[in-house]
Amino acid sequence: MISMIWAMDENWLIGKDNLLPWHYPKDLQYFKDHTKNATVLMGDMTYQSLKTYYKTKPLPFKKSYVANINEAHYIDAIHVKDLFNFLKTTEEDIVVIGGKTIYQLSLPYADRLYITYVLKRHEGNVYFPSFDLSQFKLIEKIMEDGLIFAVYERKTSWL
Ligand SMILES: NC(=O)c1ccc[n+]([C@@H]2O[C@H](COP(=O)([O-])OP(=O)(O)OC[C@H]3O[C@@H](n4cnc5c(N)ncnc54)[C@H](OP(=O)(O)O)[C@@H]3O)[C@@H](O)[C@H]2O)c1
Repeated sequence: MISMIWAMDENWLIGKDNLLPWHYPKDLQYFKDHTKNATVLMGDMTYQSLKTYYKTKPLPFKKSYVANINEAHYIDAIHVKDLFNFLKTTEEDIVVIGGKTIYQLSLPYADRLYITYVLKRHEGNVYFPSFDLSQFKLIEKIMEDGLIFAVYERKTSWL
């Protein structure tokens, strides 16, 4: 199964340069709860951003894949050069954790979405790509401290 997790504000803002535009401890906790025992996929930019935060500490995931078109070597992650082949053929449960480019490329393969709606407008310059949310059905919705934690699953096609 391929899941995706992200937080976005009322304008679908997700980033400010290569950082999150906000600090919501409840959302960070939610992200940790859904990724700490998971195999995650991220883009090189998101990996670099996490490394500035964790520095020499290990990344807080079970296993990490990093997508990068260029040749690359990561001491604590597995390089994915052919992203589409990876998404099409992986038999692992994967959680896609960003950023914008990798979300956009992974969306057609996503079975489940964990979206945190930030009920405000923040400053930033990176937006989640527009997509058709009607292909997914809402299966869980929790509202807490100006945030909505929503979970969606892809609608099954019976054709
Ligand atoms: N709000 C949230 O929940 C959230 C979560 C995560 C990230 N973010 C935000 O997202 C932003 C970063 O997004 P981003 O789009 O700049 O970076 P990104 O998605 O993290 O990384 C892009 C990387 O993907 C690689 N790539 C592109 N196409 C590929 C393909 N077909 N196969 C393999 N690799 C491929 C590129 O490699 P090359 O360099 O070789 O071209 C590039 O390094 C930041 O602002 C961050 O804060 C927000």
